[in-house]
Amino acid sequence: MSKFYITTPIYYVNDEPHIGHAYTTILADVLSRYHREAGDDVFFLTGTDEHGQKVYQAAQERGIDPKRHCDETVVRFKELWEKLHIRYDYFIRTTDEYHKEVVKAILIDIYEKGDIYFDEYSGHYCVGCERFYTEKELLDGKCPQHKKNLNVITEKNYFFKMSRYQQQLIDYIHENPKFIQPDFRRNEVLGFLRQPLEDLCISRPKTRLTWGIELPFDADYVTYVWFDALINYVSAIGATKDKKQFEKWWPAEFHLIGKDILTTHCVYWPTMLFAAGIPLPRTIFAHGWWLSGDFKMSKSLGNVVKPLDLIDQYGVDPVRYFLMRDMVLGQDSNFSIEAFVRRYNSDLANDLGNLVGRICTLITRHFDGKIPQVGDVSEGDDELRSHGERIGGVVKNLIENMRVNKVVEETLQFIRAINKYMETNQPWKLVKEDKNKAGTVLYYAAESLRLGLQLLHPIMPSRTKKMMEMIGVKATDYADQTWGKLKSGAKLGQFEAPFPRIETKKEPISIDKKPTEEITMIDNKISFQDFSKVQLKTAKVLKAEKVEGADRLLKIQIKVGDEERQIVAGIAEHYSPEDLVGKLIVVVMNLEPATIRGVESNGMLLAGTADNKVVLVTMDDPTIQSGVRIS
Ligand code: ME8
Ligand code: MG
Repeated sequence: MSKFYITTPIYYVNDEPHIGHAYTTILADVLSRYHREAGDDVFFLTGTDEHGQKVYQAAQERGIDPKRHCDETVVRFKELWEKLHIRYDYFIRTTDEYHKEVVKAILIDIYEKGDIYFDEYSGHYCVGCERFYTEKELLDGKCPQHKKNLNVITEKNYFFKMSRYQQQLIDYIHENPKFIQPDFRRNEVLGFLRQPLEDLCISRPKTRLTWGIELPFDADYVTYVWFDALINYVSAIGATKDKKQFEKWWPAEFHLIGKDILTTHCVYWPTMLFAAGIPLPRTIFAHGWWLSGDFKMSKSLGNVVKPLDLIDQYGVDPVRYFLMRDMVLGQDSNFSIEAFVRRYNSDLANDLGNLVGRICTLITRHFDGKIPQVGDVSEGDDELRSHGERIGGVVKNLIENMRVNKVVEETLQFIRAINKYMETNQPWKLVKEDKNKAGTVLYYAAESLRLGLQLLHPIMPSRTKKMMEMIGVKATDYADQTWGKLKSGAKLGQFEAPFPRIETKKEPISIDKKPTEEITMIDNKISFQDFSKVQLKTAKVLKAEKVEGADRLLKIQIKVGDEERQIVAGIAEHYSPEDLVGKLIVVVMNLEPATIRGVESNGMLLAGTADNKVVLVTMDDPTIQSGVRIS
């Protein structure tokens, strides 16, 4: 048995939690559950980030004391985690007394070692990010994340000599290839470290902000919120008070983060740890963003999907399933209700739900509702069994490599293999000719289903448990992947359709979409600003096929940089699917998604029409790759 310490970011307490926050936390929960079920000793930490200007401003707007504001808003996170069946081991709040103590202890330690000094500084401050930006980091004079104008602040502050640790950090990253994952993020950080590293401003004068942890060596200042927040990962496990507990858990196996907070975690945090003489975490893993209509889902952009609405409508487990299945860890993913419904109906209602239904119905009808005996076994039975015996190892390996979407895919492949086995053996017919053989088939199907459900248990803890009960398994031990644990004679539980199909209306064909925003036109001209709202990119065609029942339409899979997506285009009369594959075309990326003949289209390609002939806009210079922005 080994130990497994995993963390999520601690979320800003005043934000209303959305799918993005839910995603990281569910991911940590899923990984924790896989490890727990594999017998590891797990510590799963989450919590809230409660100091800083952003939280203070929110409290001021409500006209209440910041601590009271935090006490009220933290509940939203705790409630959501409960609803999402998140089984964390500890919830840390940065306003906890003990956390403050650890922050102060680390500050004093670093101060006494001579790594903190006092100086005047001037910079552009973004409250949204809670950090200063240098002139060259700004985009058109604005915050690169929030696209807002920033005020220049000049003041005297304390600085952490981060620059001193630049080379040590570069060497560490080279010597520990697993430290920053995925690899392209590691390269991004190394790229950042090619520029000289500046020192880090770690204080705020109380004249500007009082809401923070007071500096232990200067009562006129509070600690910079990121310096305070990062320390949660060690204060939560008793950094200064319980050496045994601390050494048991630290270093963490994983800090899970979104790519928005890569620098703070991969540069600030490790250099802080170097200075404090604490070992570094094993892996910082940055996942991509859930996008909504191609933009990062975020409160300030107003395009958030609220997890509670989704859960209320479709249940927790399908939401967890979708989030785990539809994001390739590390890359961005587009969130849409249409994609959710499609995934639900195909994987959960059809493949899994129908299988459970079939097995339960047949056993109830022909075997008195009891798991049948096993008789003579044929080659096909052995094949299914060996697939079932293999799949546990496959999943374990994938989990260790953080390929969670692949875990779901492989497990669903197995579920489909069981369906196929049922189709091939047709126990509903067989039962009339050879009841023993039909019983064997149903046993094999049900036992395989049990193995598959176990593997899906960390992702859908509650519905898999229900399905287990339906096939007569009461086991609390979900880790048992040995074949034959299902008892012949066990009585089936009450059947209830585990994933009722979600009915959707078929949408008529329509490419005319209302513009989301009015475009101002003067003399038929648009401003450059309006034009620049249209995001054009190069895209590589991976695959193309005809849309069934529509002569003009092709369904096209494209790759835009790291991202894959699907578009539908009315060019089937001008291009055959084979002509298209490999072409580098130009696509409008931020068009509202549309459903055309029941097929989702996420973007639009550019083409010219002349004499009834349609010609695609393509790029053929080898230096241009997919994902290049066109302006
Ligand atoms: O940054 N897609 O907190 P925060 C995927 N308090 N994940 C998303 C997301 C999206 N669209 N939006 C948010 C902070 N997230 C600091 C962290 S840690 C010491 C301090 C997730 O409330 C993702 O994990 O802004 C991201 O890193 C985190 O929420 C940011 O949460
Ligand atoms: Mg944020």
